[in-house]
Amino acid sequence: MQVIRQVHHMARLAQAFKRAGKTLGLVPTMGALHDGHMSLIRAAHRQTQVTVVSLFVNPLQFGPKEDYARYPRDLRRDLNLAKAGGCDLIFAPDASQMYPGGFCTFVEVEGLSDRLEGASRAGHFRGVTTVVMKLLHVVQPSVAYFGQKDYQQALLIRRMVKDLNVPVAIRLMPTVREPDGLAMSSRNAYLTSEERRHATVLYRALCAAKARIRAGERNPRRVVEAMRELLRRARAVRVEYLAVADAATLEPLKTLRREVVVLVAARVGSTRLIDNLLVGVS
Ligand code: PAJ
Repeated sequence: MQVIRQVHHMARLAQAFKRAGKTLGLVPTMGALHDGHMSLIRAAHRQTQVTVVSLFVNPLQFGPKEDYARYPRDLRRDLNLAKAGGCDLIFAPDASQMYPGGFCTFVEVEGLSDRLEGASRAGHFRGVTTVVMKLLHVVQPSVAYFGQKDYQQALLIRRMVKDLNVPVAIRLMPTVREPDGLAMSSRNAYLTSEERRHATVLYRALCAAKARIRAGERNPRRVVEAMRELLRRARAVRVEYLAVADAATLEPLKTLRREVVVLVAARVGSTRLIDNLLVGVS
């Protein structure tokens, strides 16, 4: 497995593989790899000939009061894990490689990026879509892999590649969870052991919502209220948003139909966590 630090080096290698007729799979990450990331890396390894994993804590997607400085970074551990998952090339640029002096061009997906996560984290999605677009240009993969855990992010990236005619397939992989249901996240490392216990209520609230919908509830307000009630009882948890939306567009619905996504964002102590579940409405 090769570790590449420079944009031009990554681009040259990727082009050489493509000329040799190889298919490339890209897994963009911010490192601090866990089993959620690993499922994406393994999928890329199974489905494409050259697996590229990017490790880059992207400053552009963090707000000034967010956790950019303390985001967990452990390159050596990440390299070992990525290699074990079948990664062929690691792309680990530093910020000056990705954003050299004078950088002033951004990619923005309108509308979809203003709601939910976008409303809570101003500028976040502009940072995500800009860096992902750059990674897609540098690596030119046939397939790029994203997790359902960040559902809105994945929808935005699908929209971006469609709107800007980027020749790549976007594959969405299911959320990998801890045995008690907590969605794996690099930020789970911030939780104290008590907060970690409380954090499972997010998944329980999503499951309660799913059960209600499966039992015939079609009013999204009542589904959200049931979740809010459950979350109110967990004192360490402060809800940022709860929503039930159309799974394809994230538009709010008056009556639940087709496929919906139930979403939650909450602070557990000072750690911000998100999760979601897809529910088919028969
Ligand atoms: P990061 O949070 O490191 O996540 C990298 C990828 O792993 C994302 O596609 C995310 O949805 C996926 N992922 C995270 N937790 C997961 C889980 N429990 N199960 C399945 N997949 C999971 O998301 C980002 O980085 C950044 O925004 C990035 C796209 C790399 C742009 O900087």
